[in-house]
Amino acid sequence: MIVGVLREGGSENRVALLPENIQTLVKKKITVLIESDAGTSSCASNEEYVDAGAAIQTKEYILKESDLVLKINPPEDKDIPAGKVLVAILNPLSNTDIVQKLAKAGVTSFSLDMVPRSSRAQAVDILSSMATIAGYKAVLVAASKLPNFFPMFMSASGTIKPSKILIIGAGVAGLQALATAKKLGAVVEVFDVRSAVKEEVMSLGGKFIEVEGSTDDAAAGGYAVEQTEEYKAKQAQLIHDHAVSSNVVICTAQIPGRKAPLLIHKKTVDEMSPGSVIIDMAAGSGGNCELTKKDETIIYKQIRIIGNSNFPSRMPADASKMLGNNYINFLNLMITEEGNLNLDFEDDIIKSTCMTHDHEIVNQKVLEIIEMESE
Ligand code: NAI
Repeated sequence: MIVGVLREGGSENRVALLPENIQTLVKKKITVLIESDAGTSSCASNEEYVDAGAAIQTKEYILKESDLVLKINPPEDKDIPAGKVLVAILNPLSNTDIVQKLAKAGVTSFSLDMVPRSSRAQAVDILSSMATIAGYKAVLVAASKLPNFFPMFMSASGTIKPSKILIIGAGVAGLQALATAKKLGAVVEVFDVRSAVKEEVMSLGGKFIEVEGSTDDAAAGGYAVEQTEEYKAKQAQLIHDHAVSSNVVICTAQIPGRKAPLLIHKKTVDEMSPGSVIIDMAAGSGGNCELTKKDETIIYKQIRIIGNSNFPSRMPADASKMLGNNYINFLNLMITEEGNLNLDFEDDIIKSTCMTHDHEIVNQKVLEIIEMESE
């Protein structure tokens, strides 16, 4: 069996496998092909891949010869590995176009962002590993852009108050942002519609701010649920009041597969202090802030609004390390010890990540979205 790893295009610095991941595949007698310079931006040279047992090849050769192709971002049309197996991060609920193209080209595709959030799936949960990196990096970027210290300073020149950070959304990214901001000495407040996260927030040293009367989310598999209008009005006021007195607002609120909720309105930004920073990590799905522009930084009345949708790419070495381990753990579910492909569609991880097979779209959620889009 041949596994091929393609180089990502554009501004993406990560790679799907690092040299340290190759051994696991080579031990199973799998031939591993790496596109030339695929790992360079992640600090992994062609020589290191060769030393680990892989061969360096062109994209054309890899697309032609591989049985299974690994990529991070969806392939461009001309790079779709027709008739092969593809493992990537397709963002299929917002990008149904690529899923339709893969089905047409007879690709058996797996999208790792569709991994169920269960204990067994943790080892392949790329959303959690990338959100961890994004939460950390977002705080470092905020700290470097803020014209103030994060920690309190007492010196002969006087006392400087610590910065106040508001984090909206206490999922993986938000909790990592909280932990990082606390380590830097800031005072951190956190808001989330899921009251279940209150204890986690407090254990990391954050202050949990809450609105009474949220809709119970216990049955939603750990994700947030849609809230009533009355709750939303109270929530809007609470977020406004806390945001205007914060130096930094980090937005991570999201319900999977939906447009991000709008939580920081222009009128809130109008009342924030000059020099404040908003990091909108939900920029990729519309943003939590009304003024956010995806992958741009805008400065509005001296407030910096950063809409970077790919912070992990700015920490490519460790992002690729975590991704590489996730990819290998996933491949271990579909490749036998003898190095043969064995797709068990009864396995819940294989089943929920498989988007296309036998020229058909096989994911129910994607099919429903396509149907809605065509109405
Ligand atoms: P998650 O699903 O674990 O957490 C999202 C949190 O937002 C949940 O705790 C949820 O309860 C909360 N939430 C939902 N609606 C809310 C509302 N109206 N008000 C307050 N809280 C609300 O997601 P995760 O993994 O922490 O990712 C968070 C966001 O960051 C997502 O939008 C994800 O796409 C994005 N992300 C961005 C990256 C970047 O580089 N910009 C990288 C990785 C993730």
